[in-house]
Amino acid sequence: MRILSGIQPSGKLHIGNYFGMMKPAIELQEQGDAYLFIANYHAMTTVNDAAALRQMTTDVALDFLACGIDPNRTAFYRQSDVPEVHELSWLLSVICPMGLLERCHSYKDKTAKGIAATHGLFAYPVLMAADILAVNSNVVPVGRDQKQHVEVTRDLAIKFNNAFGEVFTIPEPSIRDNVAVVPGVDGQKMSKSYDNAIEIFMEGKPLKKRVMSVKTDSKELKDPKDPESCNVFALYKLFATEAELADLAERYRAGGMGYGHAKLELLDKINAHFGPIREKRRELEADMDYVEDVLCQGARKARSLARETLNKARQAVGLE
Ligand code: ADP
Ligand code: TRP
Repeated sequence: MRILSGIQPSGKLHIGNYFGMMKPAIELQEQGDAYLFIANYHAMTTVNDAAALRQMTTDVALDFLACGIDPNRTAFYRQSDVPEVHELSWLLSVICPMGLLERCHSYKDKTAKGIAATHGLFAYPVLMAADILAVNSNVVPVGRDQKQHVEVTRDLAIKFNNAFGEVFTIPEPSIRDNVAVVPGVDGQKMSKSYDNAIEIFMEGKPLKKRVMSVKTDSKELKDPKDPESCNVFALYKLFATEAELADLAERYRAGGMGYGHAKLELLDKINAHFGPIREKRRELEADMDYVEDVLCQGARKARSLARETLNKARQAVGLE
């Protein structure tokens, strides 16, 4: 089974991103022949600053490698190192009905947020289809917001195969529905746009300050507390074993334990989990040649598959 997913470089990652997207993406390498790429062509629909694009691309590579991408099992690459996807994207564009793209929510959502209404933003799902079809992926794990784009991909692949012969594998989306929404320090969904995030590479005093600012109710130290309605507990749950969780729940219910204490336990958990990951990121940062090698090696693997697919498609449409 071949699995492919793409990630847009989009600034500093937080623990909501980690549990909601990175960890599941990294676990793909246990499940089959995994391809994971940094969607920097896609990011250009919203980022117009060369230095920022470069920096965000490097950051996401470091973040994912530090968090556990194993380059021996996953082909990890930059989208822009596989330019074949662009030619493929054109072959798909010419059979893509306007209506199919007009129905996509993401274009409407993004322009409503003030993102420039460009042709690139509108045609974004066609490029995404090319990413997926280029390497003949069977399964595409994505968040719910991307499901429609995988459906567009299926429609285009079926249409192309019907018109020109069997070239593309029809992919299936695999929707990450079972990951819980991680709350931010204010109890709303953690998001970089709400200034409520705990970043995974934050440490020391700023991290402590963030964790101590998690919102709780105003029960006093002696009062029994309800673990299930507490943000500190919800965050602790992400890191703790069943036994640790049961133990903390019991201390909440018994009373005599303050939220400050629970927050310090949460801080310890965060540091124990991300400490080695932060260390690994520092090591990688000091060895950018290695990181570059990993990305180039991943691109070579993806590119040879993309070349094969593209040759078949060129032949099928009459370019050869
Ligand atoms: P943000 O809301 O910080 O801008 P994005 O929208 O860029 O995050 O999300 C990137 C990925 O991280 C998505 O796949 C999304 O499902 C996941 N994600 C973001 N925030 C959370 C959260 N609070 N809980 C679980 N998953 C999340
Ligand atoms: N559009 C996806 C996102 O914003 C990123 C992406 C680009 C992607 N190409 C892809 C995801 C191909 C899966 C497969 O998250």
